[in-house]
Amino acid sequence: MKSLIVYQGRYGATQQYAEWLHQKFALNLLTATACGEEQLKDTELVVMGSSVYIGKLEISNWVKQHSATLRGKKLVLFVVSGTPKDQTEKLRQYVRSSLPDFIAEKCDVYYLDGRLVYNKLLRKDRFMLRMGALFAGKVNGHKMLAGYDGVKEENLADLYQHLEEMLYQHAL
Ligand SMILES: Cc1cc2nc3c(=O)[nH]c(=O)nc-3n(C[C@H](O)[C@H](O)[C@H](O)COP(=O)(O)O)c2cc1C
Repeated sequence: MKSLIVYQGRYGATQQYAEWLHQKFALNLLTATACGEEQLKDTELVVMGSSVYIGKLEISNWVKQHSATLRGKKLVLFVVSGTPKDQTEKLRQYVRSSLPDFIAEKCDVYYLDGRLVYNKLLRKDRFMLRMGALFAGKVNGHKMLAGYDGVKEENLADLYQHLEEMLYQHAL
């Protein structure tokens, strides 16, 4: 099955997960910017990876741009964010509000812990984060600014299994 990983993030967390997937399954790996219609042609499975900024998936514009082509393919999406996995409704809402309905419904979605290092952020992202922290209240706001690093290969266990099954079934 011709397969491709396409990802979009800002500071490396999404890229790290995409690279682990690339190493594990030897799938082609492209940033969304580098992936056009030509690269999608003949691809049966597209694994999309995206982080979340202010409630929106980074890869959403790319998906909208290529939605007609993506409609006919098997789609897997991994979402990298600061929202804990148990906040399922909030996480699902990121996907629903960022992607066309018919794509969101078609995707097998995996939610992965992200990374935030305040000192490495661009000035505009620091500003946005500080605004978000103000609205989040004292305790949650403080946590947001303190940063976190939840990026670990073991978070990919379920996605590894899913892809193994998909690729194995197809090889039979
Ligand atoms: C300005 C800013 C806004 C963010 N907005 C959200 C958000 O709305 N929801 C969320 O869960 N995480 C949010 N995050 C956290 C990022 O999604 C998280 O740090 C992610 O790991 C970044 O991955 P990347 O390095 O691949 O871009 C935000 C981070 C920043 C700096």
